Amino acid sequence: MSTQKPILRALAGETLPTPPIWMMRQAGRYLPEYKATRAQAGDFLSLCYNPELAAEVTLQPIRRYGFDASILFADILLLPQALGADLWFVTGEGPRLSTVTTADELKALKPVSAIHDTLSPIYETIKLLTGELPDDVTLIGFAGAPWTVATYMIAGQGSPDQGPAHALKDTDKAVFEGLLDLITDGTIEYLSAQINAGAEVVKLFDSWAGSLMGDDFTNYAIKPMARIVAALKQRHPDTPIIAFPRGADERYIGLHDAIGADCIALDDGVMAQWAADNVQIDGCVQGNLKSSHMVTGGDTLVSETRRIVDVLKGGPHIFNLGHGITPDADPQNVQLMIDTVREAR
Ligand code: CP3
Repeated sequence: MSTQKPILRALAGETLPTPPIWMMRQAGRYLPEYKATRAQAGDFLSLCYNPELAAEVTLQPIRRYGFDASILFADILLLPQALGADLWFVTGEGPRLSTVTTADELKALKPVSAIHDTLSPIYETIKLLTGELPDDVTLIGFAGAPWTVATYMIAGQGSPDQGPAHALKDTDKAVFEGLLDLITDGTIEYLSAQINAGAEVVKLFDSWAGSLMGDDFTNYAIKPMARIVAALKQRHPDTPIIAFPRGADERYIGLHDAIGADCIALDDGVMAQWAADNVQIDGCVQGNLKSSHMVTGGDTLVSETRRIVDVLKGGPHIFNLGHGITPDADPQNVQLMIDTVREAR
């Protein structure tokens, strides 16, 4: 039997008797110890850029629950900031950024070579974590996928339908595609630096992929991710990559190959059995449990967890939620989910 870490075995295509488990947003506001460390840092961005405290919050869910993976504590919007966008968070509302919607604003952004000036504390966090994580726990780095990052840079905030980004795509394709290219190039350098610092796996979050229709989905969600994956595979052939094109629906079919990813993360909008038949046949899958079960708990949480484990047991599978855990989740429900996944072990 391989001595590799469980997550790396699943990502290599191995079908394990018990799926390894981690959770999107596992370090977050549902945990009292997270809130305490964030208060110590002052605010969310200060926490992201403080390597000691960012490493501390990354480790908190590992200590409390013994997850099989830790995910670097940072945010997908740090890259726009490193490219020169202003970024701040409004409590209770979310992120705000200076917008990029004109050729002049695009030109005013910094070159990709400048991003490390801002992002070096993130690499420092990774270096600290490589010395502190338990031997069997995998360290996952991440970035936003270009389309999702662009939706925030164009709108200057989260937008329910990504309307401003769709509008720019239709009114000034050159600026839209120029921005997407810059983010794509920046993401390659950012993730490559994360891997050099010690990230063992990287994940691309395309949270808003689902709003791209027709050829736009291929051109603006899949192609930029495929370009990032190809560049990373050339430089770091042994580093597995997870892609999360949220909302892809039936377009989840064939994405392992189209993106070149080792694992496709599923949201909670697809049926697990459908994913087993249509997506897992091509490689490792991750995700699918509705994050609302972390709020409601009980027998339904247990039966839904068992169902997903059972339906996906015939192939490589990493247990996870279909989206990030929410601040109103009960920490005890996370333990119940983990115990249920591992009950047969
Ligand atoms: O998963 C993890 O534990 C790692 C850290 C992580 C965060 N954000 C920390 C965070 C990761 C992987 C992200 C990804 C991220 N950030 C995404 C993609 C995944 C998704 O959720 O769709 C997006 C779209 C963002 C942008 C972002 N960051 C938004 C829209 C918000 C505000 C929403 C909210 O929950 O308040 C954030 C803030 C943020 N990022 C928090 C955390 C723990 C909450 C900040 C706080 O402590 O107040």
